[in-house]
Amino acid sequence: MSPITTRRHGDVLIVTSNNPPVNALGIAVREGLVKAIEEADGDDAVKAVVIRCDGNTFFAGADITEFGKPMQMPMLPQVVDRIEACTKPVVAAIHGTALGGGLEVALSCHYRVAVPDAKLGVPEVKLGLLPGAGGTQRLPRVAGVETALEMAATGNPIGAKRAAEIGLVDRIVEGDLEQHAVAFAEEVREIRPLPKASERDDKLAAARANPGLFDDFRKANARKMKGFDAPEANIKAIEAALSKPYAEGVQDERRLFMELMSGTQARAQQYFFFAERKASKIEGVGEDVRPRDIRKVGVIGAGTMGGGISMNFLSAGIPVTIVETAQDALDRGTALIRKNYEATAAKGRMTADQVEKAMGLLTPSLSLDDLADCDLVIEAVFENMEVKKEVFGKLDGIVKQGAILASNTSYLNVDEIAASTGRPQDVVGLHFFSPANVMKLLEVVRGAKTADDVLVTAMALAKRIRKVAVVAGVCYGFIGNRMLIPRQTQAMNLLLEGATPEQIDRVHVEFGMPMGPFQMADLAGVDIGWHRDPNRIENIRDKLCAMDRWGQKKGAGFYDYDDKRRPSPSPVVADVIEEFRAKAGVEKRDISDQEIIERTLYTMVNEGALILEGGFAQRASDIDVVWVYGYGWPVYRGGPMFWADTEGLPKIVEGLKRQQDRLGADFKLSDLLVKKAEAGEKLSR
Ligand code: 3HC
Ligand code: NAI
Repeated sequence: MSPITTRRHGDVLIVTSNNPPVNALGIAVREGLVKAIEEADGDDAVKAVVIRCDGNTFFAGADITEFGKPMQMPMLPQVVDRIEACTKPVVAAIHGTALGGGLEVALSCHYRVAVPDAKLGVPEVKLGLLPGAGGTQRLPRVAGVETALEMAATGNPIGAKRAAEIGLVDRIVEGDLEQHAVAFAEEVREIRPLPKASERDDKLAAARANPGLFDDFRKANARKMKGFDAPEANIKAIEAALSKPYAEGVQDERRLFMELMSGTQARAQQYFFFAERKASKIEGVGEDVRPRDIRKVGVIGAGTMGGGISMNFLSAGIPVTIVETAQDALDRGTALIRKNYEATAAKGRMTADQVEKAMGLLTPSLSLDDLADCDLVIEAVFENMEVKKEVFGKLDGIVKQGAILASNTSYLNVDEIAASTGRPQDVVGLHFFSPANVMKLLEVVRGAKTADDVLVTAMALAKRIRKVAVVAGVCYGFIGNRMLIPRQTQAMNLLLEGATPEQIDRVHVEFGMPMGPFQMADLAGVDIGWHRDPNRIENIRDKLCAMDRWGQKKGAGFYDYDDKRRPSPSPVVADVIEEFRAKAGVEKRDISDQEIIERTLYTMVNEGALILEGGFAQRASDIDVVWVYGYGWPVYRGGPMFWADTEGLPKIVEGLKRQQDRLGADFKLSDLLVKKAEAGEKLSR
């Protein structure tokens, strides 16, 4: 049965789409829409048309699962042209989200009405694309060039209210959308000529008076758009709307769309769209497993992580009790939470009332006893097994049965922590990333005995606090930090062999990472982990710590910093590297950028394959989600596993074999990687 049905209300033809879950514009929907418009045109009794959707949302765009497959007629550009060419007025009735092709359908209608909480957007850029069904030509004509640029190049939607202010929505209606849309259609049914977006010029004329508009936009957004192909293509297509007649503009749009579609970035970004959604699915856990109720959260430790973790829950309206060992640490932690909220408010992203509301949900305490009635307790104390075991042992005697006991440990064995309680089934790792109130990633560490409903709760809770959660198994460093280890080891060895921190960082930044390994060390603190044994000076890093070069916070680390925190290469560091090179008896040689890639990135891919092979990640795409959201791996490269597939697994294996002698005795080539390379298979599917 077609997902598109029609029925009459008086002389208005109501066209309804029912294509769950999001009314994507797949082939059957496209065919149905064309037929419905033909029905309207062919029936003299029909005076106007309303296009509406059942379910949660108006059309949320093209059907992304059809991308990469042979195209089926009619394609969306033809569908929208057919709608606009209808001889009777067509009204789009928008609820939920009108996104991408969905907004393009709405733009081809002669009028748009929407409920107040509807959202309208063209998020194609996030899939490495541009609106390819006339959107780049019709949107600037209806919404104005500046708004269209902003919407298309960022992909962020706007609310119905703003859409109404700029003329993208003709009327906001409260209550029954269909009824109001039909009434609106009755009102406009005699108006001729029909208002067609493709024929408008008034808003373009206004923008033509400001020719610097596009370059100003490029400059203002250069940092955000760096490395991505799609934003520039979106800008170019909108430029064409100004400089060319509509018929030529859409041809430019099509050409740019096809160029993007055939590139690797679009493939990577579309892969990532589904990777992100797959991550929340837990293997081996039935859909019938219900999450536990989480109404109150406890956090232990108000240091770097504890404060940020607490903010996630406070912002979501969930009360938090935060426990420290001493009053000053508690006061410092709570003050920092307030300071962070106030900084957000100062940027206009929160009101003073919202700050007070969040802070009002926070209860600082010096006693673990105050956690007795929490539904979830997250431990974020020092990274020390004895301390963690002691805390969990105590919690076991205090916190109510059925509560979830979680650790934010970065590396420690969650099963060992769980064994210090009498309820290991309730214990799970919740590994947040720093700064925990900002970073979207959450690694949910599944212990040997973690109960299914605890996992389900963790995944559901992650969604509530707007995190992207990935399930990891118990191994040293879980997914993300474990893959960081070969990168760190190789980066340090490369220094000894002749590379500089600047060269290694440059290769990583050119690749698309937000920063290289040494910039990251300087930002996070070169001294992490050093304080346990400050007398030990075994390597370059120890020596820098002993010299007080702890990174940006000390104005010196692997780089020197000026008073504005601008880095420059450090002669002191060069001397330290020289000293250790001599000690190790390593001869200095020229290191190529390709060697850096092979030793720091190919080894990460190999580690990812070992993680997969060992069952510590559920699927390759989860590893990619960890690296994109946890470490800023460029999404236009999909993530390390997808990138390896794009490079070609035989090339990766060959590179690793070429470097094998330099990778150290601990290096182990992944069997899975080799097998897949030999079989011509891919890691990421
Ligand atoms: N095509 C195919 N499947 C889609 C889809 C789409 N456009 N959008 C969502 N889905 C699927 C998801 O994969 C998911 O499937 P699953 O249940 O099997 O995992 C299901 O629909 C529900 O999606 P979400 O979990 O994301 O549901 P939410 O309620 O959280 O969000 C949404 C709904 C805001 C619509 C969000 O899904 C979304 O942003 N979708 C993508 C919108 C988009 O990018 N549209 C542009 C497409 S490109 C285009 O239109 C090209 C054109 O210009 C030619
Ligand atoms: P931190 O040193 O900033 O904070 C730890 C806090 O715990 C201190 O304020 C300390 O007073 C308090 N504390 C210690 N023992 C306690 C006890 N028995 N009861 C109550 N409070 C106690 O450390 P940080 O960086 O916040 O790390 C905490 C945990 O989070 C560690 O396990 C760490 O590995 C992990 N982690 C750290 C990340 C980071 O980037 N800093 C990232 C992800 C995880």
